[in-house]
Amino acid sequence: MGDNEKSKDNLTTGKVPIQMNGIQISIREARLDELPAVCTMIGDCFQRFIAPDYVEEGVRECLNFMSPTALEKRLAGGNLVLIASSGDDIVGTLEIRSQGHISLFFVKPEYHRRGIGRKLLRTAIQKCLEANPGLSTIEVHSSPYAVGIYKQLGFTAAGPEATDKGIRFTPMRMSFSTA
Ligand SMILES: CC(C)(COP(=O)(O)OP(=O)(O)OC[C@H]1O[C@@H](n2cnc3c(N)ncnc32)[C@H](O)[C@@H]1OP(=O)(O)O)[C@@H](O)C(=O)NCCC(=O)NCCS
Repeated sequence: MGDNEKSKDNLTTGKVPIQMNGIQISIREARLDELPAVCTMIGDCFQRFIAPDYVEEGVRECLNFMSPTALEKRLAGGNLVLIASSGDDIVGTLEIRSQGHISLFFVKPEYHRRGIGRKLLRTAIQKCLEANPGLSTIEVHSSPYAVGIYKQLGFTAAGPEATDKGIRFTPMRMSFSTA
């Protein structure tokens, strides 16, 4: 196995941490017993970066969606949650919903802009392709905060910003070939 293949394999399995801007990051699927810690991390991140753009109803809906109980139910239904960890610290998450829809894309603020989000996304795409080799696009409902970041990651808007139950989102899409 060449170096590239090794690092791709490590990235997918998370068995060996990868060096990213001076920190060691592992990416792997979350265990059920880690969901409360996952929810605490994303809850803090949500309050800081997303909640300020939402009305009360939207905040409530999102907090329900991000609760450990709701997350556990979705995992039982076949969704996957990837986590990026640095030692015991969960520093990033991404949920893969059926047929190529992602959500819960969060990286702890102190770890932003080190490439962790991009690595999580690449791993998510690999997982989607393993589950469904014919898939050609991945979709997300972006928060107002993240629209520019998703564009940087290769997504384009699939429609104008919309609001559902107080949640403001822009539907966005990316073809795997641009990941
Ligand atoms: C979205 C998020 C997960 C990205 O995580 P990250 O680890 O910082 O992302 P990366 O470091 O991999 O950056 C990905 C790209 O976006 C760009 N980017 C990241 N943050 C940015 C910012 N605040 N402004 C502009 N560009 C930004 C990076 O430069 C990078 O592009 P490049 O590789 O061409 O330089 C993180 O910003 C976050 O948790 N945001 C708050 C929660 C949120 O809104 N999530 C989306 C829910 S739909």
